[in-house]
Amino acid sequence: MMSEHLDLADLLAWYVQSGADEAIGTAAPNRYVARKEVAATPAFPTQEAAVRAPIAAKSELPPRPAAKPVPTAPLAPAAPLPPPDAATRDAKSVAAACADLVGLRAALEAFEGCALRYTATNLVFGDGQAGAPLMFIGEAPGADEDREGVPFVGAAGQLLNKMLGAAGLDRSGVYITNILPWRPPGNRTPTPNEVTVCLPFLRRHIELVKPKILVLVGGTSAGTLLGTSDGINRLRGRWHSYRSAEGAKPIPARAVFHTAYLLRTPARKREAWQDMLEIRRRLGDEASGQR
Ligand code: URA
Repeated sequence: MMSEHLDLADLLAWYVQSGADEAIGTAAPNRYVARKEVAATPAFPTQEAAVRAPIAAKSELPPRPAAKPVPTAPLAPAAPLPPPDAATRDAKSVAAACADLVGLRAALEAFEGCALRYTATNLVFGDGQAGAPLMFIGEAPGADEDREGVPFVGAAGQLLNKMLGAAGLDRSGVYITNILPWRPPGNRTPTPNEVTVCLPFLRRHIELVKPKILVLVGGTSAGTLLGTSDGINRLRGRWHSYRSAEGAKPIPARAVFHTAYLLRTPARKREAWQDMLEIRRRLGDEASGQR
């Protein structure tokens, strides 16, 4: 019995590692009902059907609560995807025309230039209010975020919440989004083309939120928005400047370890904690107009 459990756990872990971590259907089939129908219409009642009868009676239990809303992503592109250059140009002009976060979200929902939207379950736009003083930007949604349509709700998000709380910052007072608004299949690293095509939307996202400080969570986010190939170990621990466009007011930016990395490497939490305290200190300065 024990080894059967272990085998099943191994099999499940193997599915997850292979990227098969999603249920395919959107509604759970009620197998009790299916069994009851089979049991109710036997050509010749058998001893097996008689044994099954008490199981079938369980279908009289109250129905399960309704499944979550059906995913918003279309299943396949209506036409072949545009080449990345054309998609990026399109993204720039569409994003520039968005006057607020509601419009930007609608524009992303309608944008067909990134193949990830066809494999993702939900658009993961952002969490928070325009005008939040701190804006956290991660890499891309994972399985939990894809399912819920909200960034940083899985294990990495729980750790982010804890770190915010410990530094006296509440999640409800910050804005959170990602470099990519759709989950790459199996949580693979985003490709350069995916990042380039989606970047105009993120740049507009930052302009519309207007944070006082940007927190770039992980190497992909930091490298993309600071325009460098330096790794996170070089980028963290000091202040940078992010400029949305030539001549725009620079926004102080801090690169921090990704919380998913901290879950795997707890020895680095101390440095992450120092980063968080420095961000809070600078936020105090910005709020009191000392900068
Ligand atoms: N990791 C990210 O970078 N973003 C999320 O939203 C969740 C995990």
